[in-house]
Amino acid sequence: MTRLVKGHGLIMTDSPFQKCDSSDREYSATTMLHLQGSTSERWLQQVDQHLPEILIDHAHCEQKAASTAMDLMFDYVQHEDLCDCMTEIVKEELEHFQMVRQLLKRRDIRFHGLKPGTYGKKLKALVRKLEPDRAVDRLLIASLIEARSCERFVLLRDHLQDVELKEFYGGLFESEARHHATYVRMAELFAPHDEVDERLKQLAVEEAAIIEEGCELPRVHS
Ligand SMILES: [Fe+2]
Ligand SMILES: [Fe+2]
Repeated sequence: MTRLVKGHGLIMTDSPFQKCDSSDREYSATTMLHLQGSTSERWLQQVDQHLPEILIDHAHCEQKAASTAMDLMFDYVQHEDLCDCMTEIVKEELEHFQMVRQLLKRRDIRFHGLKPGTYGKKLKALVRKLEPDRAVDRLLIASLIEARSCERFVLLRDHLQDVELKEFYGGLFESEARHHATYVRMAELFAPHDEVDERLKQLAVEEAAIIEEGCELPRVHS
């Protein structure tokens, strides 16, 4: 079974809409994530052994996050609220992408293509085919990826000794928690609250199993 790392196990909550309160940053960020399992020590070992590769993958993740939001905006353009929120997320993820690339440059790590890990592909396979279920699933899976990123950024902040990286990840996790909540809220444009809540729990169980299985390639979501 997955074990909690350094007490950062995530607490499940029924409300995806809690605001991330900066007065208690760490706690509020982890209580709103809906994750059904926590990262194990195995991942931190991958981080220790392959930090540059994890950082390169992080840049790819930010780029993919922008692309996911853009795809959703194209496919559900009739929803004004969704278009507004996705526009904000695209901008923010591209900013993160730039920030990670600058970090790589400062460290003389060349940004290059990487073979993707298995996480995204396995999650994508869970998406139901017919609308509006498809929209609900795409949004909820995006929400869980954001939640997992948030959890792992907190772990990186706490685990890494490097001061620049600690600060870097300490400054990033809150926005990923906010994106998580936004995607859950957007799913309610396509299904009633209870249905979204139920599906989120199901997908979170699947996501936790994928994380538990792991991936031998060192990645942000391996
Ligand atoms: Fe991001
Ligand atoms: Fe994000």
